[in-house]
Amino acid sequence: MRGPLLALLHGVASAGAGRVAPRAARVTMSASAPVQVTASPEALADRVRVGTLELSALGVGALNWPLDKADDEQTAQALAVCVRSGVDFVDTAEAYGFGRSEELVANCVKRLPPGARRVAVATKFAPVPWRMTASSLVDACAASAVRLGVETIDLYQIHFPDVLQPLAALGVQQRKDELYWAGLAEAYKRGLVANVGVSNYGPALLKRAKAFFDGQGVPLASNQINFSLLYRKQGAQATVDWCRDHGIAALGYFPLANGLLAGKYSASNLPSGLKGMSMRKYVVGGVVERGVTFKPGGVAPLLAEMRAVAQSRGRTVAQVALNYAMSKGVLPIPGCRNAQMAAENAGALGWRLDGGELAALEAASDGLGFEFAGGGFGLEEE
Ligand SMILES: NC(=O)c1ccc[n+]([C@@H]2O[C@H](COP(=O)([O-])OP(=O)(O)OC[C@H]3O[C@@H](n4cnc5c(N)ncnc54)[C@H](OP(=O)(O)O)[C@@H]3O)[C@@H](O)[C@H]2O)c1
Repeated sequence: MRGPLLALLHGVASAGAGRVAPRAARVTMSASAPVQVTASPEALADRVRVGTLELSALGVGALNWPLDKADDEQTAQALAVCVRSGVDFVDTAEAYGFGRSEELVANCVKRLPPGARRVAVATKFAPVPWRMTASSLVDACAASAVRLGVETIDLYQIHFPDVLQPLAALGVQQRKDELYWAGLAEAYKRGLVANVGVSNYGPALLKRAKAFFDGQGVPLASNQINFSLLYRKQGAQATVDWCRDHGIAALGYFPLANGLLAGKYSASNLPSGLKGMSMRKYVVGGVVERGVTFKPGGVAPLLAEMRAVAQSRGRTVAQVALNYAMSKGVLPIPGCRNAQMAAENAGALGWRLDGGELAALEAASDGLGFEFAGGGFGLEEE
């Protein structure tokens, strides 16, 4: 299990289409003017089912929106552009900003103009060691519903398996996954949540969870995992396959590998601060870390293939990255810090990469010899 604390700190601290596809959203932008978008009929019709929800095949994640504000103009504009472009699904978590992110999402939804399409919101329960009972989940769920300003949460997910075991070094582990499943079933039966989901579950735990929920008569709607052109192995594709075979929607986080797959970073244009430090090996390469070789040039060969596909499609590299996940049957939830990014990302709706393009992209990814886990969770095999 890699980086769960880092992930928590973020917050608590197929079918192929023809090659000449219509553009999903026409985008007009300048530095100062508001972003204008016109969604195509194909983009608006690009929908998937997650439990009882019918959602855009692309969502948006709230983790990169301000975690210290309960309201924010730039974020409200980004969400408004998402919605005008056909994106009507937002993912947040109680762990993001100690609940502040849920309030921010609720306030941005409230600011949408009258007549805007309805936005479905998913949030998550944090299984931290001091939560020892099933009712701790029900209580947390009720608190999230208050922050979201709803009676029933569209989709409530357990953020990760119960892997934060403070006494593990002493050989003492007390997994509470089943207690949390019982709490989630109770929240569903009380009508606090319309759909139940999990996150960062590999096939083995998913199988147990599904058997539990089946026994309760509660449908398991979704599993959210790290999935991108740079994170398919280490259980990711196998988990997506398992979900598909068992009628569970797969939601994909880090679909842009934190921006790496938008193709905007270079040796002379690394992000600032810690993010730049962690991105260097992927962008510049020429290092061996924990037995993994990052060749000089890093992710450049994959980006070159992505650019070729993007050019032949009249798309952008970020749109190809997002469409890759969609073409593999995953609903990606990219972060977008502003309206421009929101508009560009929505251009992944309304078309699909074909088999030849997928194979070429995967071959380029395989040739790198490394993947991008970021601060995401690894998937347990057992
Ligand atoms: N279940 C879990 O354990 C878990 C873990 C992590 C995340 N998540 C969810 O997944 C969501 C997505 O994760 P993420 O935002 O960290 O990763 P991501 O979607 O892979 O990357 C988002 C970043 O990519 C860049 N970007 C986005 N659109 C762009 C565009 N059109 N052009 C250029 N750059 C663009 C921005 O980077 P810059 O900020 O550098 O500009 C943005 O912050 C989160 O919001 C959260 O809801 C879930």
